[in-house]
Amino acid sequence: MQQMIPRVAERTAVIGVIGLGYVGLSIAVALADAGFEVVGVDLDAGRVARIAAGECPIQRSDPELAELLARVTASKSLVASTDYASLAAADVVLIDVDTPVSGDRRARFVSLRAACTALGRVMKPGTLVVVESTVAPGTCTRVVAPLLAASSGRTLNEGFFLGHCPERVMPGRLLRNLRELPRVCGGASPETCEAMVALYSTIGSGRLEKCDCVTAELVKTAENAHRDVNIAFANELGMICEAVGADFRRVRELVNQSPGRDVLVAGAGVGGHCIPKDPWLLAQAVPSERGWTPPLIRAARGVNDAMPVHVAHLVEDALDEAGVPLHGAKVAVYGYSYLENSDDTRNSPSQALVDRLVDLGAKVVVHDPWVREYAGDMHAFADGASAAVLMVAHTAYRDLDLGRLKRVMARPVLVDGRFLVEGRAAREAGFVFRGLGRGERTS
Ligand SMILES: NC(=O)c1ccc[n+]([C@@H]2O[C@H](COP(=O)([O-])OP(=O)(O)OC[C@H]3O[C@@H](n4cnc5c(N)ncnc54)[C@H](O)[C@@H]3O)[C@@H](O)[C@H]2O)c1
Repeated sequence: MQQMIPRVAERTAVIGVIGLGYVGLSIAVALADAGFEVVGVDLDAGRVARIAAGECPIQRSDPELAELLARVTASKSLVASTDYASLAAADVVLIDVDTPVSGDRRARFVSLRAACTALGRVMKPGTLVVVESTVAPGTCTRVVAPLLAASSGRTLNEGFFLGHCPERVMPGRLLRNLRELPRVCGGASPETCEAMVALYSTIGSGRLEKCDCVTAELVKTAENAHRDVNIAFANELGMICEAVGADFRRVRELVNQSPGRDVLVAGAGVGGHCIPKDPWLLAQAVPSERGWTPPLIRAARGVNDAMPVHVAHLVEDALDEAGVPLHGAKVAVYGYSYLENSDDTRNSPSQALVDRLVDLGAKVVVHDPWVREYAGDMHAFADGASAAVLMVAHTAYRDLDLGRLKRVMARPVLVDGRFLVEGRAAREAGFVFRGLGRGERTS
């Protein structure tokens, strides 16, 4: 481990990255750009072939990533493979596989376990393994270390070293976040922390904090659980505002004038790979024999998961006012990615809305300028629809022409789940309107 820091500083250390998705590909490209020889391994042969050819599979999420990827693959600073044997020469291996939760809201770490077992069989003595994937607190000690030890036949802190450095990237800001945001370097030993700080300081200027693995695991899952709980409060307040005929935006503005208050914006749902599952990872850290699931985390997840159902209720209510039954009505849903101006559709709240509307007998069509299969003319797409629903705040939707929309629709019914349209403007244009967080007579 003592030789690792100079080798990192001189860029002579070889870096392996397991899992070349949003997170793994970004860090692999950033480290290759910083001067390291990087070997990326992914089980998805199609993805590996595209990366090896210099083509970025997540191009629309970060144009700079695509440019840099083309450069570092052309110079062979980054090579991609499906073969774990290519990691045998690596001094440091980062693990960036997916860590989803199952239907029972618990993570089984299937990809992480497979990655550790396969890595342990090929890694050389003294390898530093850093888990970057988000994991439940305790996973490095209880899952990762024993699997690496068993498959390599070596001992932690002697034959291999282990750390956890969770990512804070976001689609659209992958490289910028990697370079600029502070990170926690949780190591299984103080020397491991030092080596991690040396490694991550090569790619950016963000502050690097040393701690142990479980603290790093807690920090990552807690920051996303914190976000989720705060969004849930905003969403609940939004629904209270609807119920009493107030405008959430005005209430929020005034509440936030009170010192220390920072109410977030209510919205039609929470998606993506991280926020819907990381709170469950944090909750999972509590041993089941304690018989206690953190109630606030569970409640917040319930509120946020139910937002698309609430939007479906607004659609039904607006259609009812227009005298149109939801059963058999065509509903045009605007936006499918989980985030504005992004093509990331994982855990899309719009899909949850579509499922709900279809269950209620509606015929649903979806538009999204960022998602190839749903792109197209945003006015013509609502042709013959009895209701239009705004689910994602893509910048393009700010140019929606209510007059044109009304002309193509069978019935003028509009539901806004993202504060994109003023109720007064919609009503003046002849729409029956419902806005999330807005009472019927407010704007
Ligand atoms: N997406 C984000 O914005 C973000 C942000 C912060 C943290 N994270 C965390 O980072 C981790 C990765 O997220 P992601 O968004 O990059 O996921 P992803 O699904 O985009 O990528 C995961 C990749 O791992 C590969 N993989 C799975 N099992 C493998 C194995 N055994 N060996 C080799 N490759 C394997 C998959 O084929 C896939 O390409 C997750 O734990 C996530 O919670 C994600």
